[in-house]
Amino acid sequence: MTTPLKIDIGRLQGEIDSLALISENPPPVVTRVLFSEADLAARARVKDLCREAGLALREDAVGNIFAHWEGTRRAAPAIATGSHIDAIPNAGKYDGVVGVLGAIEAIRALRRIGFQPGRAIELIVFTAEEPTRFGIGCLGSRMMAGALAREKIASLRDSDGRDLEFWRRQAALGGDLDSVRLRDGAFGGFVELHIEQGPMLERENLAIGIVEKIAGPSSLRLRLTGVGGHAGAVLMPERHDALLAGAEIALAVEKAALSSGSPDTVGTTGVLRIEPGAVNSVPCRALLEIDLRDTNPVTRDAALAQIEAAAERTCHQRGIGLELERVNVDAPALCDPGLVELISRVCQDLEVSSRKLISRAYHDTLFMARMCPVTMIFIPCRGGVSHRPDEYAGPEQIQKGVLVLAETLRRLAE
Ligand code: GLV
Ligand code: MN
Ligand code: MN
Repeated sequence: MTTPLKIDIGRLQGEIDSLALISENPPPVVTRVLFSEADLAARARVKDLCREAGLALREDAVGNIFAHWEGTRRAAPAIATGSHIDAIPNAGKYDGVVGVLGAIEAIRALRRIGFQPGRAIELIVFTAEEPTRFGIGCLGSRMMAGALAREKIASLRDSDGRDLEFWRRQAALGGDLDSVRLRDGAFGGFVELHIEQGPMLERENLAIGIVEKIAGPSSLRLRLTGVGGHAGAVLMPERHDALLAGAEIALAVEKAALSSGSPDTVGTTGVLRIEPGAVNSVPCRALLEIDLRDTNPVTRDAALAQIEAAAERTCHQRGIGLELERVNVDAPALCDPGLVELISRVCQDLEVSSRKLISRAYHDTLFMARMCPVTMIFIPCRGGVSHRPDEYAGPEQIQKGVLVLAETLRRLAE
C-alpha cells in the first residue's frame, strides 16, 4: 500500500494569486511578455520557490529554467515536467502557471511523504511559449529540440526592432545559443499539466483530460506597402490602401479555414497594424500576423497555400507591395500511448474522472515530443475560456490536476 499524496491547495492557490499580481497591467489582467520587467520578476519568484523546494537550478542561454531533483539512479534519464509563465497581453492567471507552480507543489507533496526518486525529476520553465515578443511560439522548447535555425534566431525582431541579443542582455543571460539544444535521450519522458483552454471537460463534467495529440500550428507574417496620402485629396480610383488589402486577406484566411474540408482547421488574423494610423490619412503600410492550425497537416498546408495565393492576388490587383514570411509551420505531435495509459490508470486508482482528448492549443509539449515520450494532463477551465483575464480554474480542479501529476511523477521516477 503506497502512502497517499496530499496537495496543499491553499498554499498553491496563494502562489498562483500572488504571481498574477506580477503583471504589466493591473489585475485581473495578466500580461508578461518575454523578459519584460514583469516577466523577469515572475521568473525570479518562481526560482525562489524552486530553491525553497530544495531543487538545484540551471538556466540555459535562452533562459529556459531547469530545476532538478536528483535521483538515486544517476545514469537513468530524468523525468521532466513543466510549462511556461509568460502571458500574452490581456491574459489570465492560469495558462502555463498551473503547470509550473502545480509541478512545484507536486514535488513538495512527494517530498512530504519522504519519496526519494530513482530517476531524477526535472521541472522546466520554458522561455516564451507565447509568441508575443518575437511572433514565434515555443521559442525555448523549439530551440531545445534544435528546430530553429541559427539564421532564423538571428533574424528575430520584436515590434520595436529589438533582437534576441538585446533581450538576453536585459535578462542577464549569456552563453552560446547552440548549447540550448538538448542531447538525444536527455529525458525519459515529459508530462505537462495545463488548463484545457477548451470546453470539453467542463461540458462532460470530467476532472482530467489526457492528451493524445496536439494540433500543428503555423503562422505567417505579411508586410504590405501601399501608397499613403491625404484622406480628402486622394480620389478613390487612385488609391493603393494597405489596410483594405489586409482586410481582404483576413477574409481569405476565414474562407480558407472554413472550406478546408477539415473541421479542425482554424485561422486567425490576430495582428493587423497600420501606418500611419491617422483618421485623415490613407494607410500606407499594414503588418498582418496570421495563425493557422489543424490536427491534419495536409488540410492545414493546403489552406496555408490558399491564403498565400489570395494574398499575392489581392496585392497584385490593388497595386500593393507584399513581403510574405512563413514564421513557422510545425507538424502536429502524437503523444506516447504508454504514458497516456499510465495516466488513465493513475486517474482510475485515484478515483478521478478522465477522458482522452486532443489539444487544439499548442504547448511546449509539441517540441518535447521530438525528444522523448510525452503527454499532457488537462484540467477544466470555466467556459473553456483562455487568453482572457476572466480565465478561471477552481481550486478543486487544480488540486486534482496536481494530484494526478504528482502520482504520475512518482510512478515514472520510482
Ligand atoms: C498557445 O498559447 C497557443 O496559442 O496555442
Ligand atoms: Mn497561452
Ligand atoms: Mn499555455
